Amino acid sequence: MVMQGLYDIMALGNKSMPESVFPEDGTPPPEQGRQGKKRGPKGKPKGRMVIPEARATIAALLGTIPLRRDQLIEYLHIIQDEYGHLSAAHLAALADLMKLPMAEVWEVASFYDHFDLVSEGMEAPPARTIRICTSLSCMMQGGEALLQKMQSMRSEGKIDADVRFVPAPCLGACDVAPAAADGHHLVGYANTDNLMRVITTGTPYDIPDYIGFTAYRAAAGYALIEALNAATDDAHAEMVSGLMSTLSDAALRGLGGAGFPTGRKWSIVAGYDGPRLMAVNGDEGEPGTFKDRYYLSSDPHRMLEGVLLASHMVGITKCYLYIRDEYPEIIALLTKELALLEASGLLGSLEIELRRGAGAYICGEESAMIESIEGKRGLPRHRPPYVAERGLFDRPTLVNNVETLFWVRDILERGADWYNDQGREGHPGFRTYSVSGRVAQPGLVTTGAGATVAELIEACGGMADGHEFKGYLPGGASGGILPAHLADVPLDFGGKLAELGCFVGSHAIVVLSDKDNMWKAATNLLQFFAHESCGQCTPCRSGTEKAVSLMTSDAPDTALLGELADIMADASICGLGQAASNPLISAMTHFPGDIPDAASET
Ligand SMILES: Cc1cc2nc3c(=O)[nH]c(=O)nc-3n(C[C@H](O)[C@H](O)[C@H](O)COP(=O)(O)O)c2cc1C
Ligand code: SF4
Ligand code: FES
Repeated sequence: MVMQGLYDIMALGNKSMPESVFPEDGTPPPEQGRQGKKRGPKGKPKGRMVIPEARATIAALLGTIPLRRDQLIEYLHIIQDEYGHLSAAHLAALADLMKLPMAEVWEVASFYDHFDLVSEGMEAPPARTIRICTSLSCMMQGGEALLQKMQSMRSEGKIDADVRFVPAPCLGACDVAPAAADGHHLVGYANTDNLMRVITTGTPYDIPDYIGFTAYRAAAGYALIEALNAATDDAHAEMVSGLMSTLSDAALRGLGGAGFPTGRKWSIVAGYDGPRLMAVNGDEGEPGTFKDRYYLSSDPHRMLEGVLLASHMVGITKCYLYIRDEYPEIIALLTKELALLEASGLLGSLEIELRRGAGAYICGEESAMIESIEGKRGLPRHRPPYVAERGLFDRPTLVNNVETLFWVRDILERGADWYNDQGREGHPGFRTYSVSGRVAQPGLVTTGAGATVAELIEACGGMADGHEFKGYLPGGASGGILPAHLADVPLDFGGKLAELGCFVGSHAIVVLSDKDNMWKAATNLLQFFAHESCGQCTPCRSGTEKAVSLMTSDAPDTALLGELADIMADASICGLGQAASNPLISAMTHFPGDIPDAASET
């Protein structure tokens, strides 16, 4: 069964929705309070008066949607979408309706960048928000300058629309840098002209041309699922065992960044007692990465078939698709396609629920994503236990990246050897490299694993006119920076790249040229991490901020920065803090000449 959360209600109008769960005054029944327990007066929100009109407004807005604690972020989206902000009165009303403490609702709402909280006496933000990406690939193409220009045009009164221009981290569109978003709708190759056009005419909201359910089925899509659904218990067990062997023999590794062998992960989760859950990671926030956007917007059923195969092979009963808020066209097409998939009967007893991120890079980290799906702030969890054992709602949970799942059907149909034979010597399998920066034609390159940056630059039409290759990011913001003379390093998990202190992560390659200052590039990346740190642990929260302040000083103290980098790497809870200093170390190691008047030798 497809549980599309709130999107089916908003976009499709689900006729099978249950009758309103609210009594007429909008009060949810007691069992729908926090943790499903009946609550007496003690559970009432404290500290803020609930305005009856605001309560009635929010109850009417949420309508027949069943109130669930884990759906808190979805309700916040509905209010934000309707009013353009979250007023204190509306948050208090929501807290009251959900029988949650106001502080809990407030702390969740304030965690996510896409929610605008407005306290009493504060002015509401303009009706329209245009986000301009200032992350590295866009900064290199003038994103910061464009933001400043639009902001000054606005303050000089040259734009009289009710609009604001705000900086945004990577929008997953680095191939059309500088990227901007009207609300969340992408504007590629943004400039003053097209942004002015957007403001006056509104951004057309195009659903991309993709392989829909009918076409996918016509090309033998879901044939394996059909066979599994039709099998007797014994035949099903035998098929699953064969498919598991194939997946384990294939060199498929987690393409969200960590590279964990996929077959092994599926076996581990299948080994824990059910019910087992699944979360698909479509958060794609690593600066420079835009491959998942492409796969979801061109061939979404191939990823969905991966989910259905997991349901059979791992025994998944419910799957959450966590898609970043910056991809509204994908949320729309998935809503439509999930309805068709459900109607086809192929899902069996599997439930799939679509969730929308809210502008927090850290929610790509799997345990933070799980917290977010549970309706909380995206704070990474301490491990062990790992999410495979205790993830969503404390159940064993399979987490996979969109692209990882994309390859599963083909591997199971064509065999492990087919996949393993694709790569270069010692680097089995396919990879999709997102290539941006100073190349002639930024874009995706799908090729065998272990490609070098020299090969990728060639595949992208060479360097952009007037640019000489100087260095590159081999793995997004956190994978480090390498100089041009190391252009022959195979870009894969581990190996030579790891020996150089770098990693390939989600295979986001950003190419820099003689026109770029590597210290400035590294500073941009550290600013990104400082903004995106969840703040849970001091080495990361204070370390990233301190690093930015040292890096932006007139004469950065590189010795102190080196010590700071060590502490962040050693003592941070999660991968963000542990890897945040990589670009800084790389810049000090390989590009000391770009450091302004370095105070000490590196
Ligand atoms: C700070 C941070 C951000 C991450 N962001 C993403 C992301 O946007 N998408 C993703 O699939 N994995 C991301 N990951 C990796 C996930 O934690 C996890 O390893 C992955 O989703 C597992 O799926 P896979 O094995 O198919 O790669 C991130 C990890 C860290 C530490
Ligand atoms: S390392 Fe950073 S992002 Fe990760 S838990 Fe600590 S503060 Fe949060
Ligand atoms: S869209 Fe701007 S860096 Fe990715």
